[in-house]
Amino acid sequence: MHPLASNAIVAVIGAGAMGAGIAQVAARAGHPVRLYDNRPGAAAQTIEGIDRQLGKLVEKGKLGAEARADTVARLQPADSLEALADAALVIEAIVENLEVKRGLLRQLEERCAADCILASNTSSLSITSLAAGLRHPERVIGMHFFNPAPLMALVEIVSGLATPRALAERLYATAQAWGKQPVHTRSTPGFIVNRVARPFYAESLRLRQEGAADCATLDALLRDVGGFRMGAFELTDLIGHDVNYAVTRSVFDAYYGDFRFQPSLIQKELVDAGRLGRKSGHGFYDYAEGAERPQP
Ligand code: NAI
Repeated sequence: MHPLASNAIVAVIGAGAMGAGIAQVAARAGHPVRLYDNRPGAAAQTIEGIDRQLGKLVEKGKLGAEARADTVARLQPADSLEALADAALVIEAIVENLEVKRGLLRQLEERCAADCILASNTSSLSITSLAAGLRHPERVIGMHFFNPAPLMALVEIVSGLATPRALAERLYATAQAWGKQPVHTRSTPGFIVNRVARPFYAESLRLRQEGAADCATLDALLRDVGGFRMGAFELTDLIGHDVNYAVTRSVFDAYYGDFRFQPSLIQKELVDAGRLGRKSGHGFYDYAEGAERPQP
């Protein structure tokens, strides 16, 4: 199956952590990219941030100055959904909320070409439910990147009930052309990675809640003894507690309240306090400027 042509326009919706990374990956692969966010100015700001990130790679000798300039030149902020009408592939990376995402997909169906692929970067929501209610649910598919998208190789290609195999194969080939290692999966709550990761987070949170040890000790153990790249607390600080809590709730609800997936009150408290992790400067650790090192 052929991947998307490298000059095909890719639209990315949501200029947050994931949208920024996905836009960068698509632009590096040669696509003209339109980035849209409903916060005015956010898309342009994110593109400036990508330019700075690429600048650091140039300084380290990991990227040529020309490649940086070419990549950034392919990234365009869009100020409305109408400006995405000529995209061949739209990847949405907005808030993890079924109704909000469904509303967006309905709007996209009205505005995009009939053969435009509507992909969602959702971490856990049902692709079947996201597609339901559209006139053409067969154009919807999950394309689930991991954080940070430019560095993480895995991409889950998630098929809902209406997704044709040919579309899944096409996105699989596209992810490969973008230098990623895709995997096919059917739409189950949390798909593969977020499903197996739930107990990792849940048991770490229970240990913390029961006072077994502090976050830094638990993280160090998971890293140094368990061989994980990051412990549960530093990882959820990176993911963002708003996102991770929404994912936990969605998997818990989807499995009819199975205790294994029960959200933790610690997560809810962090979200209520606006301590969303790295992106807000505080989570389990403190990332405030001037902090000598993140504090538990
Ligand atoms: P984020 O909070 O960093 O960014 C979300 C962006 O979407 C914000 O800039 C917000 O202004 C924008 N937005 C919200 N509603 C919108 C709408 N209706 N129209 C246009 N823009 C809108 O969130 P993040 O972390 O980038 O997550 C986005 C999606 O990616 C979620 O579905 C999440 O589950 C998924 N995801 C998150 C990962 C993570 O580690 N944070 C990993 C993989 C997937």
